[in-house]
Amino acid sequence: MKYHIEEMISKKDIENKIKILANEINKDLNGEEVLIIGLLRGSFMFLADISREINNVSEVDFMCVSSYGSNMVTSGEIKILKDLDVNIENKNVIIIEDIIDTGFTLSKITKILKDRNPKMLKICTLLDKPDRRITDVFVDYVGFIIPDEFVVGYGIDYDQKHRALSYIGKVVKDGEENE
Ligand code: IMP
Ligand code: MG
Repeated sequence: MKYHIEEMISKKDIENKIKILANEINKDLNGEEVLIIGLLRGSFMFLADISREINNVSEVDFMCVSSYGSNMVTSGEIKILKDLDVNIENKNVIIIEDIIDTGFTLSKITKILKDRNPKMLKICTLLDKPDRRITDVFVDYVGFIIPDEFVVGYGIDYDQKHRALSYIGKVVKDGEENE
């Protein structure tokens, strides 16, 4: 497929939004420690930036899950490729995610992590595509609500590419701009 990328959310807008999200999180935590969990690989850049704005980050850990299926759709089944190394029992935990689409990934991860008895478990996502939601998942902190477009950049990939862009762009198929 031939395509190009159109900027959707600028670097500056992402930076500003991260300050707003972190402020909310700091207010809610009220000085308590928090363990943050990034879902690899899409959240690495968002986590790196927001973790520096959150007060009292006690630990940072990562999980890597894969969804079976092709590039642009999730199949609904997830497999844990890398589990957490830390124990989350009795801790305040915030999951940092790049984008919520159907909601499958986060609803499954939430179930798995709740069984480990954290003191608090919240979700913070940079992007949310509510139009595509299939499974209900309560998201505590949302950066940007976006339309049903396939996006890349700022950690997010298309076929493993474009993760290092400092902005969020949408993938536009060449010749289909007006469809
Ligand atoms: P969900 O399980 O359908 O909510 O899918 C969430 C995951 O699908 C995200 O963490 C991304 O890895 C991937 N994903 C969903 N939408 C996009 C997109 O527009 N671009 C790139 N990856 C996406
Ligand atoms: Mg992801």
